[in-house]
Amino acid sequence: MPNFGKNEEKLRLPRHIAIIMDGNGRWAKRRFLPRSAGHRAGAKTFQDIAHYANQIGVKYMTVYAFSTENWKRPKEEIDNLMNLMRDYLKDAKNFKEENIQVQFIGDLSVLPEDMQELIREDEELSASATGMHLNIAVNYGGRDEIVRAVRRLAAKVEAGELQPADIDEQAVSRELYTAGQPDPDLIIRPSGEYRLSNYLIWQAAYAEFWFSDILWPDFKPKHLMQAIEAYNGRSRRFGGV
Ligand code: IPE
Ligand code: IPE
Ligand code: MG
Repeated sequence: MPNFGKNEEKLRLPRHIAIIMDGNGRWAKRRFLPRSAGHRAGAKTFQDIAHYANQIGVKYMTVYAFSTENWKRPKEEIDNLMNLMRDYLKDAKNFKEENIQVQFIGDLSVLPEDMQELIREDEELSASATGMHLNIAVNYGGRDEIVRAVRRLAAKVEAGELQPADIDEQAVSRELYTAGQPDPDLIIRPSGEYRLSNYLIWQAAYAEFWFSDILWPDFKPKHLMQAIEAYNGRSRRFGGV
């Protein structure tokens, strides 16, 4: 059982927590540092938070690392972000010790070939882990994901494997990157922005949201716990009474 401290024993853990890791640039700016320093600090926070979430028993976590819209950034910043991801991927031995199962979600086909190879290796290496399932969203866009699902369904109809009338919500969910996983119960966005930025837009249908002004590099396990506490105070009705 996760140990939440003496007053918090009855906390319900969200089964799936999704995080929009935002605010690296502003964190760096406040320190008169280049944006790359913010991304480096953010990458460290990501590792700490994933480690902590796994320790307290979170079963699924999805983090937003790079969106389909982030290609609008200067090339130098994109290269810097890809290099940070490479470093993380090369460190994959750590996932094995931590027993975290890693999966990358998003259109990975446009990533540099060496990164795709590292991703495949890391997914394979961690495939038998029994701890937390960690989705890392890279070149991920919720609309892109839905379009891809629609294409796959259309192809099945064309092949005569599926009738249009059989396309229901489950059928769509099954074609998403997160097929077979529970929808996020709790979505966390730090950095003072109040939007989804194309994140998990299908899966977020009944998620609870927790927003905070903390910039991602300053995000600590205690903030995750605050979000989980807030989640515990929510009444999830799913349209019922
Ligand atoms: C999040 O931090 C990292 C990515 C989007 C890749 P930002 O780089 O968006 O930081 P801000 O929003 O400019 O502070
Ligand atoms: C969302 O943050 C994407 C990631 C955290 C990877 P952005 O910084 O790209 O979102 P906007 O542009 O503020 O909506
Ligand atoms: Mg941002």
